[in-house]
Amino acid sequence: MKVLVAYYSETGNTEKIAKAIYEEASREHEAHLKRAKDISSETLNNYDLVFLGSACHSSDLAAPVKKLLKGLPESPKFKLAGFFTHSVWTPEQNEHGQALFDKWASKCIDSFESISKEKQIDFKGYYHCQGSPNLRIQVFIHCAIIRSHDEWKAYIQEAPKHPSQADLENASDFARKVMSISN
Ligand SMILES: Cc1cc2nc3c(=O)[nH]c(=O)nc-3n(C[C@H](O)[C@H](O)[C@H](O)COP(=O)(O)O)c2cc1C
Repeated sequence: MKVLVAYYSETGNTEKIAKAIYEEASREHEAHLKRAKDISSETLNNYDLVFLGSACHSSDLAAPVKKLLKGLPESPKFKLAGFFTHSVWTPEQNEHGQALFDKWASKCIDSFESISKEKQIDFKGYYHCQGSPNLRIQVFIHCAIIRSHDEWKAYIQEAPKHPSQADLENASDFARKVMSISN
């Protein structure tokens, strides 16, 4: 199987996940790792399976990734799986995680699913995890989202640790599962 791992990453979090997926894919398949800005929608058609990754921007996939997806023809021959990193807690991490994730990151899932449906893409699922927020995003989160002193303290101790080793291992597991159902 020919596998492409393509991603958009500004500060390196999504790139770490992309590399973990690429390493996993390379074990048994011909795999290529590319930045979203270096490819066009047509590039995806040269593969059997595409893992497409994005940083979460404004609660949604970043613009270059949406552009790639929207530029695809209907019923492309490749299978698609998505991944993204975001800066809010995941639902498993914290009691407020679900509400924060729903508000600030869940459009990434909606976009993968709705564009796949619209384009009749065989979508195999998605993976996401928290990424370390840059300073500007930290300031935004502290001012607009997590104002409580105790919650901020917990958040800012944990957030820079992501993607953690466990996040990378979970990404590899995800890649293995997707490949096993795509062969
Ligand atoms: C312009 C901009 C907008 C962002 N908007 C969100 C957002 O709405 N929700 C969120 O959870 N994280 C948001 N983030 C944080 C990033 O999604 C997060 O830090 C991600 O891990 C960055 O990935 P990267 O290092 O691959 O660029 C935003 C970051 C930037 C730069």
